Amino acid sequence: MGKLDGRVAVITGGSGGIGRAAAKRFVDEGAKALLVDLDERALRAAVAAIGGNHASSIVADVTSDDDTRKYVDAAVERYGRLDIYLANAGVEGKFLPIRELSLDAFDRVIAVNVRGVFLGLKHAIPAMAKSGGGSIVITSSVAGIHGFPGGAAYVASKHAVIGLMRTAALECAPMKIRVNTVNPAPIETRMMRSIEEQMAPGHAGQAKEQFQSGVPLGRYGHPEEVADVMLFLASDQSRYCTGGVYMVDGGVSAT
Ligand SMILES: NC(=O)c1ccc[n+]([C@@H]2O[C@H](COP(=O)([O-])OP(=O)(O)OC[C@H]3O[C@@H](n4cnc5c(N)ncnc54)[C@H](O)[C@@H]3O)[C@@H](O)[C@H]2O)c1
Repeated sequence: MGKLDGRVAVITGGSGGIGRAAAKRFVDEGAKALLVDLDERALRAAVAAIGGNHASSIVADVTSDDDTRKYVDAAVERYGRLDIYLANAGVEGKFLPIRELSLDAFDRVIAVNVRGVFLGLKHAIPAMAKSGGGSIVITSSVAGIHGFPGGAAYVASKHAVIGLMRTAALECAPMKIRVNTVNPAPIETRMMRSIEEQMAPGHAGQAKEQFQSGVPLGRYGHPEEVADVMLFLASDQSRYCTGGVYMVDGGVSAT
């Protein structure tokens, strides 16, 4: 028996590092998963790696209201219901001091990381309520509880989704929909490579060492280690958990 037998999950950022690992965990535990992302080829590769019988994909931009409606409808049309919504698509944007950060660069990060989550909640909640409830998991970050010089847009966006999560948790409790955030520290994905390169152009390895020295466990996390906590929150094992901030951070938040 899988922990998610009979459940249907939508995972945004589904072909990225963490989204793909979560989709695999969910499918391995019996769920059907719809992966949402921007690039069709990357999505096809992710679905093939996960196992095409239980996963499928749709190209959609999470900043678009129409696309969001489409991917939620597609999950219900393909699989008959919606039980789990993982709002995980995100961008790091430009890492620059506030005085050098352009308005466009700021707006772009907020559009994907905040508006995208708002739209997902707006469309997924009614579909999940129709299915009798479920679990919403939003990917925040240690940047959702700590400041980071150069990370104004990203830090603001990851704080903002904790506010969205808390509001949604209170609104959705009567519908038996639980809502929580997962807050990773640096994880081995494309996103950290980009941030390292931006912090120390041409010396990403040194930036990585510096980041790692700030992690009590002394290393980056792996996408699967984040996916395990997402699985816990998606499953009935967390049936009394809602409105919570779940750190997966090697101890960073204790420093
Ligand atoms: N990697 C880390 O260290 C880390 C730490 C904390 C939080 N996070 C968060 O985890 C989540 C997943 O990131 P990741 O590390 O897997 O990075 P990633 O870049 O591998 O994955 C992010 C995915 O989101 C997709 N995406 C971006 N904009 C989109 C849009 N407009 N519409 C649809 N999809 C879009 C990208 O195409 C990509 O596949 C993000 O929200 C990120 O902020 C990552």
